[in-house]
Amino acid sequence: MTDTAKKTVVITGAAGGIGQAICRQFIANGYRVIAGDADQAGLDRLGVELNGGEKNVWSKVGDLRNKAYCEDLIDHSIQATGRLDVLVNNAGVITRGNILETTDDDWERTFDINLKSIFYTCRQAIGHMKGRGGGAIVNIASCWGLYPGPGHAAYCTSKAAVAAFSKCLGRDHAGDGIRVNAVCPNEVNTPMLRTGFAKRGFNPDTAIAELNRSVPLGRIAEPEDIAEVVDFLSSDAARYVAGTTVEVNGAKPVY
Ligand SMILES: NC(=O)c1ccc[n+]([C@@H]2O[C@H](COP(=O)([O-])OP(=O)(O)OC[C@H]3O[C@@H](n4cnc5c(N)ncnc54)[C@H](O)[C@@H]3O)[C@@H](O)[C@H]2O)c1
Repeated sequence: MTDTAKKTVVITGAAGGIGQAICRQFIANGYRVIAGDADQAGLDRLGVELNGGEKNVWSKVGDLRNKAYCEDLIDHSIQATGRLDVLVNNAGVITRGNILETTDDDWERTFDINLKSIFYTCRQAIGHMKGRGGGAIVNIASCWGLYPGPGHAAYCTSKAAVAAFSKCLGRDHAGDGIRVNAVCPNEVNTPMLRTGFAKRGFNPDTAIAELNRSVPLGRIAEPEDIAEVVDFLSSDAARYVAGTTVEVNGAKPVY
C-alpha cells in the first residue's frame, strides 16, 4: 500500500540535465516523484538510481505534444500515490534561428513543447489541487524570455509566454492556496547547452570555460543551482512568494 503521508511531485523533462537534479533534490526531501520524459532509457537510469529499497519514482514516458499524455501525468500522480503536491514543468527545447531561419514546424514544435504542454498540465493540476489543500507549481522559463537574446525568436517568445502564464496563474489561484512561480535561469551546464555547442562545431568544455569568464559569479550554473531554487519555491519557506519570476543568472545580464 502507498504511504500517502509522503508528498508527491510531478516533474517533466525528468531525464534531462536540470530535470535529474530536480528529481534528486525532491527525493532527498522525502517526496515521491512522478518522472515524465520522452527519453525511456534516461528514465530507466533515473529509476535505477533513485528507487532504493522503497519505490520512490514512477516513470511515465511520453511526448508532451500529446494532450492526453500531459493530463495523464497529473492523473497518474493521484492514481499511483494518492496525492499531488507540486508540479514542476521543466521540459523544454531550444530552437535556434532568427525569423527567416525559423520554419513553421520549428515554431509549432517549440510552442507545443515549451508552452502548450504547460497549459494542459497546469489546468489538470490546478483542477486537482483546488479544494484539496492547494499546492505549488514551478515552471522553468528562461532569462532569455525576460530579456531576449539574439537569434532565438521562437525560443525567447515561448519562454516569455511561460513567464507571463506563470504570473497569470499565480494571481488567479493564490486564493486557492496554489502558488505558481517561474524560474528563469541563464546558461546552465546541461546537455541542452553542450549539444548546442557541439552542433556548432565547438568543443563544449572549452566553450563552457570561456562562458564561465562572462559570468560575474565566475561560472555558469550547474543543474543543482536551479534545482535548489525550485525546491525553495515549492517549499513552505516560500509561502509568501506567488505569481512571480525568479532570475537565477549569476549576475550575468543577457546581451
Ligand atoms: N540549459 C540551459 O542553459 C537553460 C537555460 C535557461 C532555461 N533552460 C530551461 O530549462 C529546462 C530544462 O533544460 P535542460 O538544460 O535540462 O535541457 P535538457 O535538454 O538536458 O533536458 C530537457 C528534457 O526535456 C525532455 N523533452 C524534450 N521534449 C520533450 C517532449 N516533447 N516530451 C517529453 N519530454 C521532452 C528531453 O527528453 C530532456 O530529457 C528547459 O525548459 C530549458 O528551456 C535551460
